[in-house]
Amino acid sequence: MDKIIVKGGTGLNGQIPISGAKNACLTLMPAALLSEEPLTLTNAPSLSDIRTMTQLLESLGCEVASLQGGRVLAIGTERISNHKADYDIVRKMRASILVLGPMLARDGEAVVSLPGGCAIGARPVDIHLTGLEALGAELDLRDGYVHAKATGGLKGAVYTMPFASVGATENLLMAATLAKGTTVLKNVAREPEIVDLAKCLRAMGANIEGEGTETLTIEGVDKLHGATHQVVTDRIELGTYMIAPMITNGEVELLGGRRDLVESFSQKLEAAGAEITQTDTGLRVKRVSERIQPVDVVTEVHPGFPTDLQAQMMALLTLADGTSVLEERIFENRFMHAPELQRMGANIEVHGGTATVHGVSKLKGAPVMATDLRASISLILAGLAAEGETVVSRVYHLDRGYEHVVRKLSGVGANIERVPENQ
Ligand code: EPZ
Repeated sequence: MDKIIVKGGTGLNGQIPISGAKNACLTLMPAALLSEEPLTLTNAPSLSDIRTMTQLLESLGCEVASLQGGRVLAIGTERISNHKADYDIVRKMRASILVLGPMLARDGEAVVSLPGGCAIGARPVDIHLTGLEALGAELDLRDGYVHAKATGGLKGAVYTMPFASVGATENLLMAATLAKGTTVLKNVAREPEIVDLAKCLRAMGANIEGEGTETLTIEGVDKLHGATHQVVTDRIELGTYMIAPMITNGEVELLGGRRDLVESFSQKLEAAGAEITQTDTGLRVKRVSERIQPVDVVTEVHPGFPTDLQAQMMALLTLADGTSVLEERIFENRFMHAPELQRMGANIEVHGGTATVHGVSKLKGAPVMATDLRASISLILAGLAAEGETVVSRVYHLDRGYEHVVRKLSGVGANIERVPENQ
């Protein structure tokens, strides 16, 4: 296991290219299962989660060509020789559940391991399952697997989600494209990754309306054909790196950044003292206030403040000129970065789903441990501003969702390196 060493105190200046969205790619890849013709994805990020999804699709009989250093994924799904998604792959990445809907829709059968929880919460898939049953699937849960059948195919239905689950919306949207008749999905997720998925499915011949709103209407079609689709920019990586010039008092342009992908986050960052300018090539961010200003944050489904940017915002607010309150409403255990930030001198009180951050004038570098993907990058952001050296261990968490972190941050002047754990 590697570790990352950051020596803080340098104002970051320059440009950071933003990659394609991990959370879009992880639903676009299973969408390939809906057609016997190949789906080609461009602007794909080169990440361990993408390699895990590739492994899963290959275990089902797909061919996945990863070209141009992982930027282009050509997925051939002429036939699915195996309809079982094994636990040993699914346990590594929960998004594996997203092969369930497409396999059911295409072949009327699927056996998918239940993903189990992860560090940030139990993360059940009950909404995925009740939604598929509404579309006529017969599900049998036994020995940790969902055994699913749709004899005669899925049938269109009206289904209202109890919660606007991102993954459940993606699974049901994909399944409905091949269901017989009309499907109306209500109270669905509105994230940009859902909009991107709908665009790709439409390019494959699907008949979809309403993406980005709380209701999706899908007219089932008999077959989908192949397509080429460019993966949307990663708004979570974008938001993460927008914090870098704020926390180090520099000025950075995020190439490919679009304000509409991070509107609610940008409003909070401006309240904290950022000036955000849309340029022809991306988003330029710099701090215009003397000190970082405290702001209160509540994480919500899109278009609210993204839960995936909560840890990064907390790192910034540890240095604010006052007290900020962060409320995590999406996951039940997403403050594991707080004790690590406290080791660096942050003053944070956590009570259940609420963290109260009393700003301090400086952080001091320390050895800290990454516990989950977004917590790990929040420790690096804190290290960029801290006095002295911060050593972040267990950085395999980072590799799941952040491509070339060391290269991107050293490219704007950060003093950062990656070394083997035992060095
Ligand atoms: C997606 O996870 C993202 N992952 C997550 O990003 C992101 O945090 C999350 O959406 C929320 O925005 C991918 O897209 C691969 P949910 P997902 O279903 O689909 C509960 C990252 O850091 N729920 O919207 O699993 C669930 O327990 C990752 O990139 C049910 O109760 O999110 C959670 O509390 C982390 N039953 C809440 O809803 C269900 O059937 C949000 O889950 C499904 C979800």
